Amino acid sequence: MKIAIMGAMPEEIEPILSHLESYEKVDFAKNSYYKGKYKSLDVVVAYSKIGKVFSTLTATTMLEMFACDMLLFTGVAGAVNPELKIGDLIVATKLAQHDLDITIFGHPHGFVPGGSVYVQSDPDLRALAKIVASKLDIQLKEGVIATGDQFIADEEKKNFIASTFGADALEMEGASVAVVCDALGVPFFILRSISDAADMDAGFNFEEFVQSSAKISADFLMKMLDELIERMG
Ligand code: ADE
Repeated sequence: MKIAIMGAMPEEIEPILSHLESYEKVDFAKNSYYKGKYKSLDVVVAYSKIGKVFSTLTATTMLEMFACDMLLFTGVAGAVNPELKIGDLIVATKLAQHDLDITIFGHPHGFVPGGSVYVQSDPDLRALAKIVASKLDIQLKEGVIATGDQFIADEEKKNFIASTFGADALEMEGASVAVVCDALGVPFFILRSISDAADMDAGFNFEEFVQSSAKISADFLMKMLDELIERMG
């Protein structure tokens, strides 16, 4: 099994790379991919750059060119659900593109013909995450993640995303990665740790907490890899 581990920013994958004994850097399509081993697992690690377009390119490359057969995403998100605080972990049950809008033609927000508003993540990987969280006594929330090509720092936009998509958190890559994995039939898992509350303080909070929250998410993902290895015997 070869596992794709993806983030959007360097801060999101650096804690993963630091756990690999060795890796090889392969450049493709103006991005770098790190092929290596974590214990007995073959992994390919990359950050895509921010947004839906770059994350689509990276996810597709990891699955098609590097032939990964599972994709795990780690990174940070803005909280929509007020229960989520900075540093908390959220696993996406399903994801939607909040900025996809052809509502003028009578379609719901986030929908285009041939697609669907939501893409569901892999239930087995979510179950694995729950087991890891309970073993380590870590709080792990599941919920809806909304994705768009905007950094949200505005209560009105946040409330629209909350009420339209039932979102618990928002970010800029998850739903596009989900669309790629769903189309190619590859199980995927999207994990985020909260860096801000997508409000007027979001820019400031993001800068302060991106690194620490990215590490919280990456560290949890490493524990999931350990659990996977243990299961494979
Ligand atoms: N990722 C982390 N915080 C975010 C925000 N407020 N908007 C979009 N993406 C984010």
